Amino acid sequence: MTILDIPELALVALVGVSGSGKSTFAARHFAPSQVLASDAFRAMVADDENDQSASADAFGALHHVAGVRLRRGRLTVVDATNLQPHARAGLVQVAREHDVLPVAIVLDVPEALAWERTQARADRDFDRQVLARMQRDLRRSYGQLAREGFRKVHVLRGVEEIDAAEVRLDK
Ligand code: CTP
Ligand code: MG
Repeated sequence: MTILDIPELALVALVGVSGSGKSTFAARHFAPSQVLASDAFRAMVADDENDQSASADAFGALHHVAGVRLRRGRLTVVDATNLQPHARAGLVQVAREHDVLPVAIVLDVPEALAWERTQARADRDFDRQVLARMQRDLRRSYGQLAREGFRKVHVLRGVEEIDAAEVRLDK
């Protein structure tokens, strides 16, 4: 079993390609109200969780809510791919503004599995190349997370390790 130690008050960024199991992981380890999902915010601002043109507004709203939660001392988990440095920089900034530690949890599954899962979903429709690009972004992310300001970087590799992980909140 892998224990993921997370400060009781943290901003947790899940990092992983589409189909890596971020939303599943978030639902298993955190209360629904602790999880801010980019999909949910796209739906909130555009009535369509896949409307990529709504991303800037959706993330603006997500960052705002994350900031309010951290100001109020509430653990907050961001369920988005978080594969690009600029996306993560926004989260690190929100955490810093509230003197809260940013923590990353990387979910790394074989690309073929992520693709298999994605194809089985009615609510996802993108090309194989899009997934390949996400996978490249994930590879690049490894060396960057710590220097971007994430104080803890937990990496879970493979389905077994992801399934066996437990979150422990430190007081
Ligand atoms: N899934 C699964 N077994 C797991 C984890 C996920 O079968 N151990 C399935 C889910 O039921 C879902 C799909 O794989 O149909 C993708 O999982 P999800 O948690 O939704 O992945 P995300 O990383 O959240 O994908 P996205 O970025 O597209 O939201
Ligand atoms: Mg998801």
